[in-house]
Amino acid sequence: MIQEALRARSRKLESEVPRPSKNVEALAPYDAVSSLAAIKSLPKGVVPLKLDWNESAIPPSPRVIEAITGFLSNGHHLNWYPELNAPRVRAALSNYTGVRPDSILVSNGSDDALDLVCRTYLEPGDDVIVAWPTYGHFLIYVKARGVQPRLALSEDPFSVPTSTILEMIRPETKLVYLPSPNNPTGTVTSPGDIASLCRAFPGTMFLVDEAYYEFCGVTSASLVASFPNLVVVRTFSKCFGIAGLRVGYLMTGPVVMQNLRKLYNPKSVNALAQIGAVAALEDVDSREAYVAQVRASREQFATALRRRGAEVHVTQANFILVRVRDPQRLVMALESAGVFVRDRSRMEGFEGWVRFTVGTVSQMHDLVERIDVLLETCPGLLEPMAS
Ligand SMILES: Cc1ncc(COP(=O)(O)O)c(C=O)c1O
Repeated sequence: MIQEALRARSRKLESEVPRPSKNVEALAPYDAVSSLAAIKSLPKGVVPLKLDWNESAIPPSPRVIEAITGFLSNGHHLNWYPELNAPRVRAALSNYTGVRPDSILVSNGSDDALDLVCRTYLEPGDDVIVAWPTYGHFLIYVKARGVQPRLALSEDPFSVPTSTILEMIRPETKLVYLPSPNNPTGTVTSPGDIASLCRAFPGTMFLVDEAYYEFCGVTSASLVASFPNLVVVRTFSKCFGIAGLRVGYLMTGPVVMQNLRKLYNPKSVNALAQIGAVAALEDVDSREAYVAQVRASREQFATALRRRGAEVHVTQANFILVRVRDPQRLVMALESAGVFVRDRSRMEGFEGWVRFTVGTVSQMHDLVERIDVLLETCPGLLEPMAS
């Protein structure tokens, strides 16, 4: 009797599995495409060139490894939670950025900081503008709040998006997402333009994503002391070489900071990540040497590609873009040679473009050699898209 009742009840329960929030239910699972599995299955002897996610193309400073192994071998406690609010990382970042430590919040990758801003500030019906094409993952955080962002799509994807944003923005616009340098277009928005926008629209939050700041050197960080509606986000995943540790940070004024801290998890940056981030910041020479390599090799690589007939766009970040007639063919041919790049050609307004992360000078020479071998059997591989 009881068993029958329970069976009937469990049938009922199956049809009533709890549903996610309406905002989440409307989303498709985030389908991140990683090349790691393909890299692991490469034939022995093929050195992978992982140039698809704009990570640093070389390992971090040896000081990062030393600091982490030192921490692990000195009886430090992985069984304890990490230091709350990452105070040493904030102090080191304050030195690095010139921004006060209490205006810096350290996050589990900059993704975490972007999500925190959206969770704290957005609600259904809000007006959000996103410079487009851009870092697509940000849209998930916006849509998860029940907001349909408006995309600021300029006719020329390589023009600075501010004039399109100006045409679209309204006094009630809640947030504008503006990466600088942008990914994948590489456009850089000047601090002067950011300041003008912040001043003209005090009720709008300007979220400036400077993930690639170090490769271009232009920043709006110092403006957070003057504009309470500005948040600047950065990461350790690009020039510091610790994408795997997941460390990012944001800089903002006291009012926004106080609100962000209502949801911020002060133990979200793990102990090894905190140690690694401080060590990475300390090794100024190693960072500067890597940035100099990338700056030199992106120009050299672009010249080599142009000599082979390609249409190339050089950015001020650690990636360049190549526009070809058949992006998929190029990506697959490169994969067969152990090279992983990112096809961005399906992004609206960005047809034909393939993104190559730029690494060291010798890595890019190696890449050109592999491309030359491929061109022998597929001569049209770099053929530009007919405009
Ligand atoms: C513009 C931009 N913002 C944020 C991120 C995410 O970086 P993180 O590794 O710090 O989460 C990326 C990664 O590619 C990016 O391109």
